[in-house]
Order: sequence, then C-alpha cells, then structure tokens
Amino acid sequence: MGKDVIVACDFPSAGETLAFLEKLGEARPFVKIGMELYYAEGPQIVRALKERGHKVFLDLKLHDIPNTVKKAMAVLSRLGADIVNVHAAGTKAMMAAALEGLTRPDGSRPLLIAVTQLTSTDEETMQKELLISRSMPETVMQYARNARDAGLDGVVCSPLEAAAVHASCGQGFLTVTPGVRFAEGDKGDQKRVMTPAEAKSIGSDYIVMGRPITAAADPAEAYGRSLREFVD
Ligand code: C5P
Repeated sequence: MGKDVIVACDFPSAGETLAFLEKLGEARPFVKIGMELYYAEGPQIVRALKERGHKVFLDLKLHDIPNTVKKAMAVLSRLGADIVNVHAAGTKAMMAAALEGLTRPDGSRPLLIAVTQLTSTDEETMQKELLISRSMPETVMQYARNARDAGLDGVVCSPLEAAAVHASCGQGFLTVTPGVRFAEGDKGDQKRVMTPAEAKSIGSDYIVMGRPITAAADPAEAYGRSLREFVD
C-alpha cells in the first residue's frame, strides 16, 4: 500500500457514518473507525464499510496479555480490517503475539501499527505518574524501535516525528500521522499541526484527517483537496 489519506470517521453511529460517506459520491476513501463507533455498532460496521468498497483502519489500540491480544486480533483479521493497532506499551511479546493472531491461513494479514505515547500524555505526566524517567522523544523512539523489532509495520505518530521515526527504524517502517490541517483551516483541539503537503514532504506514509473533511461545507471537495496535496 502506498501513500494515502485516511478519513477519521469519528461518528457515533453507522447511520451518521454512511450519511457522511454518501456526500463523497463515487469516492471510496480509506476510513478510520475508532472505539466509539465500533462499540456502538459492532463488527457489522466493518463488514458494511468493506462491502461498500472502503479500506478500513480499525483504531482499537489493543493492550492486554499476549494470548488475549493474539486471539482478539484473529477476530479482527477475519473481519477484513486493512490496518489495526496496539499500544507499544504492551511489550514486544504482546506485539509479536498480535502479529501471529492477525496472520490468515493464506499468509495475508492486515497492517499492524503501534501507538507509542499518546499525545494526550505530556512528558511531566509520563515521568511523574508512569515513572518513565527518560524524555518524551527518547521514549517514543524506543517504543517505535520495539515495534519494529517485534515485526510491526509502523507507528502512529505526529507528522513532526515522522522523519525521526524513519531515520531510527528505516524508511520502509510506516508513519501514520494525524494532526493534519489545511493551510487556512481551524486547528480545533490539535496543537501541533502540518498541512497535507508538509506531511508529504516530511515523509508521512499515511495522513489521518477527520474534521477538516467530515465537518467541511463540501466534504467531497475537501477530500479531493487532501488527495491532491498529499498523494498526487
Ligand atoms: O478531526 P481530526 O483530524 O483532529 O482527527 C484526527 C483523528 O486522529 C482522530 O480520530 C483522533 O482520535 C486521532 N488521533 C489524533 N492524535 C493522535 C492519535 C490519534 O488526533 N496522537
């Protein structure tokens, strides 16, 4: 899979998700669905999106003992998800077990990426509450290397970290980057943002864009623009 824009469908129901996707006409974007929608609608939402022709990033951030994660991943793999994720904090053993669970009988599997440190955790909280004494950048890079060593395909990270992740883990290790806004767009609650063109120039493999597309007056135009700036 090459560079692509993943549209974050942060809607509370299947009805609202499909109503939004209808606005995009013939386009079938790669979509990301998270815990809210998945827990509300269950596996059927993944099947419905796949039947409609979308690739699906199932953003459930698994984190449990290796055996439990392996079995849960086998279920998500059978649903036909294209990208799934785990918390790198679950350890290399857990990440390796996740990969095993994902691998289908024919050898194919969804891409597996890791969350390093959530961007909602700042360095002070990480050090004082979690007793991780290293700096945030060192911790993020160590978690990314753990993910690579466990055989994962990449990490979710800020576009600002993408170049460092590639330098540390190799150019083929995927960087999937949220926090992307059009140049004149409203940043919303995102603090550190990049435009699609900047994310492209810094080497992001996939950008995740939600509200700049889902809340746009003309979502089809906004999605088209994201592709022109990031992919073309
Ligand atoms: O609407 P917006 O473009 O901000 O959506 C970004 C998406 O990426 C949301 O689904 C958000 O939960 C997710 N995300 C993020 N920052 C992270 C990890 C995930 O914004 N560090």
